[in-house]
Amino acid sequence: MPSVCVFGAQWGDEGKGKIIDRLAQDAEFVVRYQGGANAGHTVVVGGAKYVLHLIPSGILHPGRVNVIGNGVAVDPLKFIEEVEGLRKRGVKVDGSNLRLAAGAHVIFEHHKRIDQASERWRGLGRIGTTGRGIGPCYADKAARTGLRVADLLEPDRCRRRLQAALAEKNALLTQVHGEAPLALEEQLDRYTNLGSVLRPFVGDTGAEVRDAYKRGKLVLFEGAQGALLDIDHGTYPFVTSSNTGSDGVSAGAGFPARWLDRVIGIAKAYCTRVGEGPFPSEDHGADGVKIREAGNEYGATTGRPRRCGWFDVLAMRYSLELNGADGWIMTNLDVLDGFDEIRVATGYEVAGRSYQEWPGALVDLSEVRVRYESARGWKTDITKIRSYDDLPELAKRYVEWVERLVGVKIVMLSVGPERDQIIPREGLAAALAAV
Ligand code: GDP
Ligand code: IMO
Ligand code: MG
Repeated sequence: MPSVCVFGAQWGDEGKGKIIDRLAQDAEFVVRYQGGANAGHTVVVGGAKYVLHLIPSGILHPGRVNVIGNGVAVDPLKFIEEVEGLRKRGVKVDGSNLRLAAGAHVIFEHHKRIDQASERWRGLGRIGTTGRGIGPCYADKAARTGLRVADLLEPDRCRRRLQAALAEKNALLTQVHGEAPLALEEQLDRYTNLGSVLRPFVGDTGAEVRDAYKRGKLVLFEGAQGALLDIDHGTYPFVTSSNTGSDGVSAGAGFPARWLDRVIGIAKAYCTRVGEGPFPSEDHGADGVKIREAGNEYGATTGRPRRCGWFDVLAMRYSLELNGADGWIMTNLDVLDGFDEIRVATGYEVAGRSYQEWPGALVDLSEVRVRYESARGWKTDITKIRSYDDLPELAKRYVEWVERLVGVKIVMLSVGPERDQIIPREGLAAALAAV
């Protein structure tokens, strides 16, 4: 059985949760390797909706091991809230089906405060972060001043490191941001007390994941955010603070890059983005609103309305190539059911030059003029269709046209939020099979 990375190929919210939940039927391990509770992954089973922020989307299948890898920025309060929320709904969650990396960095109150204060400081240049402390936590990780999950389990070490961290963070909060300082004892009380709750989940998850793979189990790596929000390859500085695609797996899960067998991108049949930053194919008119309403495009984490627009071939080709995708899954095709005409971005013009390929970081993408081509809509409800042959001709024509433009095989379609609302395509088995 292979290891498969499933990542968001646009700006996040592509339906990763739904797809991971579906693929987890056949998997043994589901592993998050980056991001934190900035993610909001929605899984709908029998009309019941679950929004997962930190816990991997395999948690609703009994018997799967769900791993929060060392590359995830873990807010322990959110972690516990999510565990308890699931338990209240009858989902079994304990140290046997949920594992937490001892080496994962911890998000504290000061990270969240600094995240929100920095956004105010940036004014018009703000990123539109989720305010979950992600950037400041990864900054401390790189600066080697962070605390890790293992530190929370050791009260003395936790006190020493948190005291040192707060000395600096309080100066920043009070003198730069004009906020009240945080009291060390209160913070210690809040966070070290969590150690005993976390302990049963904590382990050397890298070793556990490598071991499962060596035993021939299917291991799924669940990306959060999307390729265009990648800290290195996205639309910097309007990105998140981690490597969101297959590039993040080895460092963020302790899994050798050479062991990753397959990579599958997830993308909607159109595009959305939450927060600030360039989005060339954004539709500011009535169609953008129509997509938002038809797709219920409001953030799963912050509730913010998502910016909506058309499928972008240049962005997609870029993110699939960058991540070495073997195939991709097109979600939310049903959201386009009501459109007479569907547009697709197939070229850009910037400063008098035209581009057929993603122009990369050297170009100011906010200045892009997009060239669109269009397809006729199928104007039929496709949410109950489960086989490719049963799709309306015009829907098939759209899918195959986009597939041709992108140049990478679409291995599955999703036609609704429910677990069973999928249409497998030829190539799915190969995309999930060992090399
Ligand atoms: P993620 O962050 O990539 O897991 O995606 P989100 O959960 O943030 O956003 C995807 C939204 O679309 C959620 O509300 C899902 O329930 C929903 N969804 C997923 N797949 C489909 C689909 O094929 N059709 C429709 N209409 N909704 C979908
Ligand atoms: P999932 O996993 C969509 C966006 C924020 C902001 C930028 C930086 O559900 O696809 P951060 O809080 O990470 O510092 O914010 O990234 N963002 C997301 N957008 N889906 C997500 O996650 C996101 N996580 C962060 O809106 O623009
Ligand atoms: Mg989401």
